Amino acid sequence: MDCNSKQLIKFLKKHIDHKRIKHSVNTAREAVMLAKRYGVDEQKAYIAGMTHDVAKGKCRFGLNKLAKEYNVIIDEFEISNPELTHGKLGAEIVSRQLGIRDKEILSAIRWHTTGRADMSMLEKIIYIADIIEPGRKFKGIGEIKKLAYEDIDAAMISALEQVMKFVQSRGFALHSKSIEAYQYLKEREEKKKLGI
Ligand SMILES: [Fe+2]
Ligand SMILES: [Fe+2]
Repeated sequence: MDCNSKQLIKFLKKHIDHKRIKHSVNTAREAVMLAKRYGVDEQKAYIAGMTHDVAKGKCRFGLNKLAKEYNVIIDEFEISNPELTHGKLGAEIVSRQLGIRDKEILSAIRWHTTGRADMSMLEKIIYIADIIEPGRKFKGIGEIKKLAYEDIDAAMISALEQVMKFVQSRGFALHSKSIEAYQYLKEREEKKKLGI
């Protein structure tokens, strides 16, 4: 992969506004720090962090049109929650328009909106970096930030609990993949405690 920051910024400018580019740069920086901490390929973390939100901010019509064009299957839940489709579509855009074929990078972009059970370390890094980058401000972020560098699974549990609270407070439903991600991590945490 020979994607440098200039090429990536040029690519992002075609799709997202300045504010989202800033968030992407911050996410990439945080992702690289987490990659260092957990021994993950830093270049992959950088590229995934920079491009994870490339499909964000498109209107429902734009997302659906792109999904059709790229043969991306959008489930019922995602049709009524278009915000959640930008991970799937982002991975397609990065693959087709930037020529990135690395499965780990594409999968980290794809799953950053909902999470899933048994996530790879790079997937968890992008999920967490997206939430704790320095531009983010919300109640409970301090706890997730602290855990992120100590135990990324514990940070994931804390982040998913925050997402659950937020979603419930707005009267929305949680995506089944997020529930699976949470249950998987909680089961692992339990087994760890029991020494299984
Ligand atoms: Fe996103
Ligand atoms: Fe993001």
